[in-house]
Amino acid sequence: MLDWSEPRRVSDAKPNLIAAPAPSSEAAGLGSIDRSGGRISVDDKRMINCRADVNQLLPLKYKWAWEKYLAACNNHWMPTEVSMQADIALWKSRDGLTEDERRMVKRNLGFFAASESLVANNIVLAIYRHLTNPECRQYLLRQAFEEAVHTHTFQYIVESLGLDEGELFNMYREVPSITDKAAWALKHTQGIENPEFTTGTPEADQAFLRDLVAFYVIFEGMWFYTGFAQILSLGRRNKMVGIAEQYQYILRDESIHLNFGIDVINQIKAENPHLWTTAFQDEIRAMLREGAELEAAYGRDTMPNGFLGLNAASCEQYMHFIANRRCGQLGLQPVFPEAENPFPWMSEAMDLKKEKNFFETRVIDYQSGGALAWD
Ligand SMILES: [Fe+2]
Ligand SMILES: [Fe+2]
Repeated sequence: MLDWSEPRRVSDAKPNLIAAPAPSSEAAGLGSIDRSGGRISVDDKRMINCRADVNQLLPLKYKWAWEKYLAACNNHWMPTEVSMQADIALWKSRDGLTEDERRMVKRNLGFFAASESLVANNIVLAIYRHLTNPECRQYLLRQAFEEAVHTHTFQYIVESLGLDEGELFNMYREVPSITDKAAWALKHTQGIENPEFTTGTPEADQAFLRDLVAFYVIFEGMWFYTGFAQILSLGRRNKMVGIAEQYQYILRDESIHLNFGIDVINQIKAENPHLWTTAFQDEIRAMLREGAELEAAYGRDTMPNGFLGLNAASCEQYMHFIANRRCGQLGLQPVFPEAENPFPWMSEAMDLKKEKNFFETRVIDYQSGGALAWD
């Protein structure tokens, strides 16, 4: 039986992670200015362990990172621009939602409310310092802002519906199926965010990759997707349409976060093939399997009886489908037997233009460039 509840503490980290020298200010970008150094060339740039000046965005090396930054800026939105009137009326009506639907909505909101902060803190306090490339950092800065917008969304929903803020924002501590997921992800960031930690050894670089997998691939790329399916399935039935609309915008942002993370991992692999051993690949596949199992437990907890179009079993199947898909994106063998996508409408939910008639609600089209190609 795996113990996901006990986060790994700094003192439990592998000795070579804490024995390595502290990261230099030069690598982080805040060291003394080298007045005699030459200008950097594209070939000097690396994803991790790079000595080239991280304060020089140009010349660009990783155009995929810059393109995602531009796409993210084109997707700008704010939660307060979405009307909550229909949601407020439905939430306050006596029989607008079933008890099962209310339970799911509250736990779903509770899961996301704290998760957005966990993801943001992982970016700012753990990942940013070790990703030694300015175009990737440019995207991270944009992503960090988007996570703030997502957290704002949950503040706005709590305020609009008059929910108990303490109950919602403490669910990640108080509801075991949510706590288990948060604790599992956190054990991969603890150690990385330790000021003494630095990349540069195979063990440390693999620990950094584990953190990227835990947050980008599993947290944002698997767990969030069940959460989107839960709320969007309500939206398809014309329930909680304001929240469903906000979740569509979050889904659009998260799909780029996920794909940025996949590109970062694959680029680090390409530049450091010695890290991607067979044993390490098996370890990553085991992480994805654990992530899917944690999500299945959350599904049973949030939907003990299921409701129209969605239940714990279909969500578990969806996680198997998504986990296999993420394996493919990372160049790994699938972890589950082939599973069909039980929610094919989820890919349609990505296309906001179609959705104008889907929820019959107001949708502001912020999109000014093509940024919907990622899923
Ligand atoms: Fe987010
Ligand atoms: Fe995100």
